[in-house]
Amino acid sequence: MSKTILLAKRPEGLPKLSDFKIDDEITPELAVGEILLHTKYVSVDPYLRGRMNDVKSYIPPFELGQPMASGTVAEVVVSKNEAFQKGDFISGILPWKEKMVSNGEGLLKVDQNRAPLSAYLGILGMTGLTAYLGLTEIGKPKKGETLVVSGAAGAVGSVVGQIGKILGMRVVGVAGTEEKIALLKNEFGFDEAINYKTTENMAAALKTACPDGVDVYFDNVGGSISDAVLFSINKFARIVCCGAISVYNNTKLPQSMSVQTFLVRNSALMQGFIVFDYADKYPDAIQQLSNWLVEEKLKSTETVREGFENIPQAFLDLFDGKNKGKMVIKTDS
Ligand SMILES: NC(=O)c1ccc[n+]([C@@H]2O[C@H](COP(=O)([O-])OP(=O)(O)OC[C@H]3O[C@@H](n4cnc5c(N)ncnc54)[C@H](OP(=O)(O)O)[C@@H]3O)[C@@H](O)[C@H]2O)c1
Repeated sequence: MSKTILLAKRPEGLPKLSDFKIDDEITPELAVGEILLHTKYVSVDPYLRGRMNDVKSYIPPFELGQPMASGTVAEVVVSKNEAFQKGDFISGILPWKEKMVSNGEGLLKVDQNRAPLSAYLGILGMTGLTAYLGLTEIGKPKKGETLVVSGAAGAVGSVVGQIGKILGMRVVGVAGTEEKIALLKNEFGFDEAINYKTTENMAAALKTACPDGVDVYFDNVGGSISDAVLFSINKFARIVCCGAISVYNNTKLPQSMSVQTFLVRNSALMQGFIVFDYADKYPDAIQQLSNWLVEEKLKSTETVREGFENIPQAFLDLFDGKNKGKMVIKTDS
């Protein structure tokens, strides 16, 4: 027997623990060509919230009564597939199950001698790819320019800001606690950081923090924080719309500012970014991120929770800002 976590109810607004159900299941026998996986690390990500709604998006919704799924690192414990050996570790988007059978499709082998296993869910996984490709492909950063990052102490944001510094930019982060502000400035080398929860006038604070205006805005949160950045954008600014966590739990359409006048006045570009659209660039991006890690130019920060059954709570905690860097769950299986 092993445990699985199902979507029990579609959330109304902020998800609750009762929207999930932990179930026992019998792991099926292995057929030829299959492998038995034991889950080691699970990633929780804000975008999973969108998949809990029954709406069409760039990735299909989760089905009611079926397992949730996300980035996972697992160990091959039995193999009847020549491409995998017992003791291999793999990563992939996999269902929330302690143990599972797979035919190996869509799985990537990962090397724990090269980096800790959890890094393949963070800085050497979707997080790092999102940060690097979003910033370079849409942000088109240039040395000496000013970069503003929201959700700056989170998984993607903390990497975006560090890459901005590597590329010679002035980097200003926006985050929600004083501890995170200190982390951004002291650990990640941000030039300035603003606590959006204690700052009354975000537009004014951003103007002060960005005396030369904003050339690139990497937006992880949307909503009023992002509206405030528009007052400081420069001519030909690039706005990378990566995520909008501040409105993911809204039950009504958010009342946002009209962005067109800001974009027209500044000949600015605002573009949505989905990491999966850049799959052909993953190998080069991972190589670059690995090099920076080895050179110690890039730091990887994680918030690690323990225990398979704590995956839903860790997911809920993302909306409460309880993570610094990448939120991962170390399962005990
Ligand atoms: N487009 C893509 O391909 C792609 C890929 C990966 C991620 N994303 C998006 O990128 C964003 C960051 O993802 P992540 O994995 O790095 O998550 P994360 O930043 O590690 O975690 C979420 C963080 O968001 C902040 N937050 C929560 N509610 C907020 C609110 N109402 N207003 C402002 N900030 C709030 C919290 O930090 P504070 O303490 O600072 O509030 C929290 O720690 C998300 O929007 C996600 O959906 C997009």
